[in-house]
Amino acid sequence: MSKENNIVTKRTVTFVNNATPATITETQLDLDHCFGDDEIVIAIKAAALNPVDFALHELSYPRFTSAAPKAYGRDFAGVIIRRGAKVDPKWQVGDKVNGSFNHIYGPEGSLSNYLIMNTKKQLAIDHIPATEDSDKDEFIHAAAWPLVFGTAYPALFKCGQTFNKDSRILVIGASTAVSNAFVQIAKKQLNVGTVVGICNSASVDYNKSLGFDYLVPYNQEGTIPDNVEKLMKENNIGKFDLIFDSVGSSDFFPVMDKFLKPRTENSYYVTVVGDEKINYKHPSLIGAIPYKVPFRTYNPWRKFNFAHFFCVPNKEWVDLGTRMIETGKYTPPIDSVFKLDQFQEAIDRLKSNRAKGKVIITPN
Ligand SMILES: NC(=O)c1ccc[n+]([C@@H]2O[C@H](COP(=O)([O-])OP(=O)(O)OC[C@H]3O[C@@H](n4cnc5c(N)ncnc54)[C@H](OP(=O)(O)O)[C@@H]3O)[C@@H](O)[C@H]2O)c1
Repeated sequence: MSKENNIVTKRTVTFVNNATPATITETQLDLDHCFGDDEIVIAIKAAALNPVDFALHELSYPRFTSAAPKAYGRDFAGVIIRRGAKVDPKWQVGDKVNGSFNHIYGPEGSLSNYLIMNTKKQLAIDHIPATEDSDKDEFIHAAAWPLVFGTAYPALFKCGQTFNKDSRILVIGASTAVSNAFVQIAKKQLNVGTVVGICNSASVDYNKSLGFDYLVPYNQEGTIPDNVEKLMKENNIGKFDLIFDSVGSSDFFPVMDKFLKPRTENSYYVTVVGDEKINYKHPSLIGAIPYKVPFRTYNPWRKFNFAHFFCVPNKEWVDLGTRMIETGKYTPPIDSVFKLDQFQEAIDRLKSNRAKGKVIITPN
C-alpha cells in the first residue's frame, strides 16, 4: 500500500452533550501510526445500537461534560487491518472479529468505519465463527448480539442456580433484544423446561418463534400479575425459579410469594433495568441510578433474592455466544439495517421502543 493510501478518513457518529445533536465527525487517520503496541485497528463492517448509546447522549448535561466529541456505539463486527507489536498472536491482520467495545463518553466507538482497540483491556472480542450460512450478512449478524447476550448471561449463570427441564422462568419484557438472547440461552443451552414471557399481544407469535413456551400480553384486561397467575393455574405451572426483568417493572414486588419459589430454594428476581421502564425518548438521570439495589440485595430480612446486573465485558459470555452461534443454537434477530449516514434514522428506530431485534448500522 502506498504511503497516501495509508491515510484514510475516519467517520464516527459522535455528540458533545445533550444540547447538541448526534453528528458524523471526520478525522484523518494514518493507518500505519494510529495504534499502540497493544492495539489493533478494525475496519468496521457492521455495528449495533443499544439503548445505552442514546441514554448516555441524553444524560450528558453541558454543565458536567467536556466539549470533546463522544462516540456512539459498542457492538461491532469487522476485519483486523493493523496490529501492534505486542498484540496476542491470536489476533492477526485479516481476521474477522466481533465484540462489544466498552467505553463511557470515549472518543472511540463502533458507529464508525474504523475502531482502534486495546486487546488487553477490551475483553469482549472474539473471532466470528464460520457458520454454514456465512454470507454477505455475516458481519450484520455478528454485530447483533454481543452486548445483549452479555446482559442476559449473568442472570442465568451468576446466581448459583442450576436449570433443567423442571425449571421455570418468568420473563418481564419478552420482546426486548436482551430477552431474545436470554430465552435462547435458557431453552437451547440450559434446557429450561418452562419459560413464560410478558409482551405486547401483537408480539406473541414473534416471541413463540424464539422459544417462549407461554406468553402473557401486558395490554389485555386485568393486571399483569393477575393474568400471569391465571395462566399458571390454567396450565398447571408452579412457582418460578427465576423472574427476569428486561423492561423495568415493580409489578411483582408486592405479590412475589405467589410467583417466586421460596428464597431458601435459591430462587431469584433479577433485573437489568430497575423498578421503572426507561423513557426511551427522554431517559432520566434519577431513573438511571440504581440506588435501591444495595438494600434489596443485601438486606438480611429480604423476602426474596434480588440482583441487578450490568453487562460486564468478559471472555466467558463471548465464548458461550460464539459457541452457540457456531452450533446453530443462537440466532440474534435483526430489526433493521441502516447506512452510517442514516444514523439518525437508526437512533430514532431504536428510540421508538418497537424494534424487534437489533438495529444495525453499516459504514458504507
Ligand atoms: N443492565 C445492562 O447492562 C443493560 C444492557 C442492555 C440493555 N439494558 C436495558 O434493558 C432494556 C432492554 O434493552 P433492549 O436493547 O433489549 O431493548 P429493545 O430491544 O429496544 O426493546 C424493544 C422492545 O421492548 C418492548 N416493550 C416496549 N414497551 C414495553 C412494555 N411496556 N412492556 C414490555 N415490553 C415493552 C417492545 O416489545 P413489545 O412488542 O412486547 O411491546 C419492543 O420490541 C433497556 O431498558 C436497556 O436500557 C440494560
